[in-house]
Amino acid sequence: MRYQGREVEEGRVRLVMESALTARDRVGVQDFVLLENYNSEATFIENLRRRFRENLIYTYIGSVLVSVNPYKELEIYSKQQMERYRGVSFYEISPHIYAISDNTYRAMRTERRDQCILISGESGAGKTEASKKILLYYAVTCPTKDHMVTLGDRLLQSNPVLEAFGNAKTLRNDNSSRFGKYMDIQFDFKGATMGGHILNYLLEKSRVVHQNHGERNFHIFYQLLDGGEDDLLNTLNLDRNPHNYRYLVKGNCPRVSSISDKNNWKAVSKALDVIGFTSEEVQKLLNIIASVLHLGNTLFAEGEEGETYITTETQISNVAKLLGVDGSALKEALTHKKLTAKGEEMVSPLNFEQAVSARDALAKAVYGRTFNWLVEKINQSLALKAENYHSSKDASVIGLLDIYGFEVLQHNSFEQFCINYCNEKLQQLFIELTLRSEQEEYETEGIAWETVQYFDNKIICDLIEEKHKGIISILDEECLRPGETCDISFLEKLEDTVGGHPHFITHKLATGKTRRIMSREEFRLLHYAGEVNYNVNGFLDKNNDLLNRNLKEVMCQSENQILSDCFRREEVIDQKRPEMAASQFKNSLMKLMEILMSKEPSYVRCIKPNDAKQPGRFDEVLVRHQVKYLGLMENLRVRRAGFAYRRRFEAFLQRYKPLCPETWPNWNGKLADGVSALVNHLGYKAEEYKLGRSKIFIRFPKTLFTTEDALEAKKPEIAVTLQTSWRGYRERAKYQRIRHAVIVIQSGWRGMKARRSAKRRHEAAQLIRRFIKGFIYRHEEYCAENDYFVDHVRYSFLKNLRKNLPKNVLDLNWPTPPTLLVEASEHLQRLHMRNMVIKYCRRVQPEWKKQMMQKVVASEIFKDQKDSYPYSVGRLFLDSRLEREQISLKVLQTLGSEKVQYGVSVIKYDRRGFKPRPRQLLLTNTFAVLVDRTKIKQRMDYAALRGISVSSHCDGMVVLHMPCEVNKQKGDAVLHCSHVIELVTKLAMMASKTNYVNISLGSIRFAVSRTKEGIIDFIGGSELKVTKGKRGHLLVTTPQISTT
Ligand SMILES: Nc1ncnc2c1ncn2[C@@H]1O[C@H](COP(=O)(O)OP(=O)(O)OP(=O)(O)O)[C@@H](O)[C@H]1O
Ligand SMILES: [Mg+2]
Repeated sequence: MRYQGREVEEGRVRLVMESALTARDRVGVQDFVLLENYNSEATFIENLRRRFRENLIYTYIGSVLVSVNPYKELEIYSKQQMERYRGVSFYEISPHIYAISDNTYRAMRTERRDQCILISGESGAGKTEASKKILLYYAVTCPTKDHMVTLGDRLLQSNPVLEAFGNAKTLRNDNSSRFGKYMDIQFDFKGATMGGHILNYLLEKSRVVHQNHGERNFHIFYQLLDGGEDDLLNTLNLDRNPHNYRYLVKGNCPRVSSISDKNNWKAVSKALDVIGFTSEEVQKLLNIIASVLHLGNTLFAEGEEGETYITTETQISNVAKLLGVDGSALKEALTHKKLTAKGEEMVSPLNFEQAVSARDALAKAVYGRTFNWLVEKINQSLALKAENYHSSKDASVIGLLDIYGFEVLQHNSFEQFCINYCNEKLQQLFIELTLRSEQEEYETEGIAWETVQYFDNKIICDLIEEKHKGIISILDEECLRPGETCDISFLEKLEDTVGGHPHFITHKLATGKTRRIMSREEFRLLHYAGEVNYNVNGFLDKNNDLLNRNLKEVMCQSENQILSDCFRREEVIDQKRPEMAASQFKNSLMKLMEILMSKEPSYVRCIKPNDAKQPGRFDEVLVRHQVKYLGLMENLRVRRAGFAYRRRFEAFLQRYKPLCPETWPNWNGKLADGVSALVNHLGYKAEEYKLGRSKIFIRFPKTLFTTEDALEAKKPEIAVTLQTSWRGYRERAKYQRIRHAVIVIQSGWRGMKARRSAKRRHEAAQLIRRFIKGFIYRHEEYCAENDYFVDHVRYSFLKNLRKNLPKNVLDLNWPTPPTLLVEASEHLQRLHMRNMVIKYCRRVQPEWKKQMMQKVVASEIFKDQKDSYPYSVGRLFLDSRLEREQISLKVLQTLGSEKVQYGVSVIKYDRRGFKPRPRQLLLTNTFAVLVDRTKIKQRMDYAALRGISVSSHCDGMVVLHMPCEVNKQKGDAVLHCSHVIELVTKLAMMASKTNYVNISLGSIRFAVSRTKEGIIDFIGGSELKVTKGKRGHLLVTTPQISTT
């Protein structure tokens, strides 16, 4: 699946999708493979031109990136752009150097295989810029470990330093790389940068002492003079004007408007600092740079005897001082050479030319070796730190090759020969790898294909490098050959040996026009990229690269650490001849090829649109030439040999699955079947495509375009589907969130409830336990064991009591108290009763009080004594039983001030004969009177009242015992009253003689006279009857009352 292995965080996926929808370049085709007319160079160039006009400088040929130098700053290298390309598939988004960078990075991570990016193109085509963009992309986008943050900076900062020392303005490029650079970037298994390593190849040292017209020396000289502080220049004995230095004016253009040496100086100083150069190291480095300038100004003169001497003393002493060497030794070494012949050492003076070339050789050697030292120093700064060694086993590497481009100058020398040889090798590698991989791909996929004819430059490589027969071997041989050798003899040797080679021509071998334009000192090589005439002048010297031994000795003794590192004593002692420069270069290139072959390559092919370094200018002839020699057409043809387009099944299916209902939205079967179903649905004809083992190959671009257009038309529908599923997804997610929240709340709530109920149960159990324990200990003293139970019993009894308290005094119910509370209960009962009584009493009216008092007295007298009493209890005592008008006025008058308090009708029985006589009995406060209508018959003073007798039965008989001796008194009165209880009570109370009431169980005796006694007998009967009985007794029949 396309998104597999990629971060699928929401933002990224959206980015991918948006890019896929909008970012396809619509100008020309963004992949040449999709050109219908792929055999036409004109169409190819037209496509390049159209895109170039729209600032679309990048175009693919399959996986190869073709880049056209825009010669102006484009807004396509921002951080956002980097983000756009992160993790995005090659074909989904417009071509870019970042896409190549990202793809390589991902391939490294997923396949765990070392990668390399080969950037080629002629001088000024933009290789170095491309390599810087790639480096920047990795520095910005790759994850970094904390302590590695500076590593990214160092990697980036190595560029300005190396460019300052190794780049120069040439006619073709204001910032031309004059050395080859291969940089390894090491990544750990997590994809974070861990370290870096640079290999440098053959610096064009001759530039130190000579520049062609319009060219400059290495940037660092001009930067130092223009940007260096006054103090610094003083210590170096330099002045600011570059015109004063011979080594800087050979090309006659020390100043270039497009280059700001001052600003670049600042950048280099900063970079040196970031990389970790100490200030002493920087000082030593600059001493060497300055010494080269002074060396250039060191002049010689020839003495009369042919000896050579130095005319510029100050210069040479400056050189000696700056290089930290002995001045006279240096002088001596510059003008003499040491020879060892037959074991003996001899010193011979140099002639003028020899002295000049010794000086130049020294300048070149010092500068060249210092450059190597610089690269080493940078490597130390980028090296894997000790703590990362253990993880370096899982590390992978991306190599970046930025080498000097193919160049054809007016005068081409040894350096151009080497540079172009190097490019020849790279071209061969390109051909071999692209063709091989292409062929392999068809083979592994099981697809038949037609071979494409292409120019294989192996023949040129062999011409140059073949052992014994190649140009380099011949050159070496010529250098080593004893006897008189010179550049011309080398040329002749070449003519003899490789004269018949189809790619080799010299003046002698040429015919006609070619012969006319070629000088006699030149040989021409027909390179893959064009014909180049090389002037053999200096070839031998440069190949020898010899530095006089005595100069080396002087340098070995230098106090400048850098120089003593660069010039080793062993070198002087070792008599063995060092390897020749060209062979050295050849061998280092072989090694480079091995390194590159061991890695998975990606290509960036840079094209230079014009020679004038101008933006917007597209020189068709120039471009066509490059397209041709870079082999881009062959590359395209090979790529298209059978099929214009190929894509892995999963990628193809992923992109076009919306076009077929069977594959949309997901295909679950085998990928190949899915692709089959898809192409069948799309109506692909059999000749239009082939299915390989893991890829689909589409023969014509038209087929793909139709499919693309169908996809484009389908996109709104897809967008709706995506929207729908996105909304669905969002809502589902929302619902799931809510559901989850509900469950959380529910479970929280249930948990709380359960905890509460468990707590309640626990407390209840505790309570029950306490209760039972309390019950067991209930008879003990109040203590911790039984307090709860006891309290509870008390409490519940009291609570129950509260509810069941007697409502009135007559209610004698009272809850049975527990044993514990018997005493309290009794107290309470009493209190309650008292309380009820108090309350009752408070409610009682005066009349009622009076009534009650009388009733109480009645109760005290009669309760349980007289049978009729219970009947009287429920009946009210009246104030009087007689109405006022029933009492005679006369009687009242007679009574005078004594008010009648109570009156009742009675029957008075004569003491003798017991004759009944109706009377009124009136009670006053001090006496009672018996009244016969208007006449008071008997007055009985209360003071004289001796007693009141009644029977215990149910009759109305009452006897008021009065003394007989008192005249006024008539003796005991035997009365019958229907309200005997009421009467007796009131009378006893008024007379204050309640103790005088006598209730007889048997007969009542009364005084008939002072001496005679009468008796009232009582017998039970059915109704009340008063009769005269036997023996003169009064017999009262009392009705029997049932007591039940
Ligand atoms: N992508 C780019 N955007 C803007 N300018 C560019 C770009 N690529 C190259 N240039 C311009 O072209 C000039 C030359 O590019 P560069 O130095 O990369 O060439 P080169 O291929 O390395 O050449 P040489 O082989 O001489 O080293 C740069 O200095 C820059 O001005
Ligand atoms: Mg370059």
